[in-house]
Amino acid sequence: MNVLVAVAWPYASGSRHIGHLAGAYLPADIYARQQRLAGNRVLMVSGSDVHGTPIAVRAEAEGVTPQDIVDRYHGEIVQQWEQLGISWDLYTTTGTEHHARVTQEMFLTQLENGHIDKRTSDQFFDPEVERFLPDRYIEGECPHCGYGDARGDQCDNCTRTLDPTDLLNPRSKLSGATPQKRETEHFFYRYSDFNDKLRDYLEDKSDWRPHVVNFARGWLEDEGLLDRAITRDIDWGIDIPVDDLGPGKKIYVWYDAVIGYLSASQEWAASDRNSSGDADAWKDWWENPDSRHVYFIGKDNIPFHALFWPAQLMGAGNLHLPDSIPANQYVTFKGDKVSASRAVGNTIAEMLEVFEPDSLRFALSAALPEQADTDISAEEIARRINEELVATWGNLVNRVLSMVNKNCDGQVPDTPGSAPEDLELLASIDQSFIEASAQFEQAELKAALRTAMKSAQAANGYLNATEPWKLQKTDPVRASEVLHTALSAINGTRVLFAPFLPFTCGRLDEILGEPSGWARDELVAGTPIDKPTPMFAKVELAAEEENSA
Ligand code: MF3
Ligand code: ZN
Repeated sequence: MNVLVAVAWPYASGSRHIGHLAGAYLPADIYARQQRLAGNRVLMVSGSDVHGTPIAVRAEAEGVTPQDIVDRYHGEIVQQWEQLGISWDLYTTTGTEHHARVTQEMFLTQLENGHIDKRTSDQFFDPEVERFLPDRYIEGECPHCGYGDARGDQCDNCTRTLDPTDLLNPRSKLSGATPQKRETEHFFYRYSDFNDKLRDYLEDKSDWRPHVVNFARGWLEDEGLLDRAITRDIDWGIDIPVDDLGPGKKIYVWYDAVIGYLSASQEWAASDRNSSGDADAWKDWWENPDSRHVYFIGKDNIPFHALFWPAQLMGAGNLHLPDSIPANQYVTFKGDKVSASRAVGNTIAEMLEVFEPDSLRFALSAALPEQADTDISAEEIARRINEELVATWGNLVNRVLSMVNKNCDGQVPDTPGSAPEDLELLASIDQSFIEASAQFEQAELKAALRTAMKSAQAANGYLNATEPWKLQKTDPVRASEVLHTALSAINGTRVLFAPFLPFTCGRLDEILGEPSGWARDELVAGTPIDKPTPMFAKVELAAEEENSA
């Protein structure tokens, strides 16, 4: 099956935080890796979201150009994907010419189809600097929940999307002035054309996470989607492909960014990363009703992915709609949402200075905010690494490889055991693959990690019961059967862990061979087993890190 793993495009407007990592990028990567092992044809795409007021406001504050900001943070983000082992098929940006062209073509198609029209509306204008103030140039009080620092495009607290003119007590980010309303002309997407079709689309999505599907259905039950402006009074963005509005206007960032999923798929197909060389290969995902599109996003992105993007796709023709949107809730940091724009919580860079990539991946995977906001602290990450990862999995691998190295002539012995406890252990590992498959199917990645841990625990229990280090003296034949069985269990369990721990499982691949797929392979007798080096180090936090985290 062709699986599109579509991952929210991070704004290249600042350093990304562990909230972003645990919210979207890490789960997407874990899911994509498992799907590849399971034999699916995975296309995982995303890129930096380079337009809109998040970038423009930051550039203005620093007195540099928006492109300077993009270059700085896109570079940093790309480097971190590398360090974290995020296995993109393509990570690009919305700043490419190709993306601009695809966006403009889609705009023209929707215009022709009658889903875009031109309207005059009131927008906020800063009387001191004499400029319109789109989106994040305005802050004020959320009319829905009363949150005081809501931004003109969205309230971070209740995640409702906003128009700046909805805000109570609005203030200009540029001058602090109270903005005035002025008339301005914009193109609107007729989202309301699609309310019925969206209701039908969401009809069979009852297996989605409740907070996602209830939010989307609730919106349609309430007032339904309203038509929204898809252009802005701003000079940073993609050009509008018709010149009716005059200068000083661009396409709205949220209209263009979601189109990135499609444009990046095409960019991948035309690049040398696509080994088939077929530039039309993107159609296997986008024009194929049997493909599966899974979107990994944070909950503030739900309206854009569960409602607006499907409506844009419906207005453009016959392109595949999202099949699943396992949106995560927020990662909180001692109770406050981790947020780049509010500088709360630790950046990915800071975390990578303290923790090894697989160890960080493990601890975040164990605490993914899949169903509820989840608090993460450096102390808790350290505890999970030491008490769970090192104690259960790291030590198991180390112990068994050491014993095989020492007692079996440094190679995999040809002594498969067939005692009931041997067969039982391996059957339980094989059963774990079935369980984990179902968990991955639902993107229940925390549960899938628990399944892998359960396998490691079963192997530890088996060793404690059979005590091969004692058998070595009394019954060396049985000792070697037990080690064969324990190593077989590791050979399966490392596949269950592989989506979560790509670096260390890669090292095991070098020893035990690449796994043939999502299953436990039989060991190959005679495979050399050198004296192992520990896969994970215990971590000790410096007092300073504990305090700052
Ligand atoms: N840049 C947006 C954010 O960080 C996410 C954009 S997702 C996309 O919230 F699909 F629209 F690109
Ligand atoms: Zn709110």
